[in-house]
Amino acid sequence: MKEEKIELTFTRAKLEELIQSEQDLIANTQHALSNAYAPYSGFLVGASVLLENGEIINGSNQENAAYPSGLCAERVALFYAGAKYPEVAIKTIAISAKSKTFEIDDVVSPCGACRQVMAEYQQKQGQDIRLLLHSPNDEVLIANSVTDLLPFMFNSEKLRKF
Ligand code: THU
Repeated sequence: MKEEKIELTFTRAKLEELIQSEQDLIANTQHALSNAYAPYSGFLVGASVLLENGEIINGSNQENAAYPSGLCAERVALFYAGAKYPEVAIKTIAISAKSKTFEIDDVVSPCGACRQVMAEYQQKQGQDIRLLLHSPNDEVLIANSVTDLLPFMFNSEKLRKF
């Protein structure tokens, strides 16, 4: 038996320490979350995807009275990006949240299903996706790859041998 450890790398920064284009991407998430349809949770999430071609795709969570039918902001944005620009790589995804009922004091951390979708696109494009997880007090947790959020990920390499 042998215990092993994995090292994950993150950076914590203040919003104003980011380069302007990343601050702008986070500004997009604020607009995106204002379009959330979240009457059941009151938890508004905005996700903004920066593509290699410079385009920004915004998504927000979309809920449903039949709860599992809704979708997180991240997957709304990622699937839209994948559908509109299937051949364009995703450079960065920024995520912010706001609650109608309480003060959020930490960064929003994407759910497992959204991490899995990010992992798929990262593997598909063969290029890391950078993540900017933003908190309402303007702190940002930065990861340079989905691998840092989803170690031991399942991907197509495990599904079959090409
Ligand atoms: N949600 C997101 O959109 N992204 C996340 O990263 C976490 C959760 C949504 C799903 C649901 O509409 C609401 O937030 C509460 O879970």
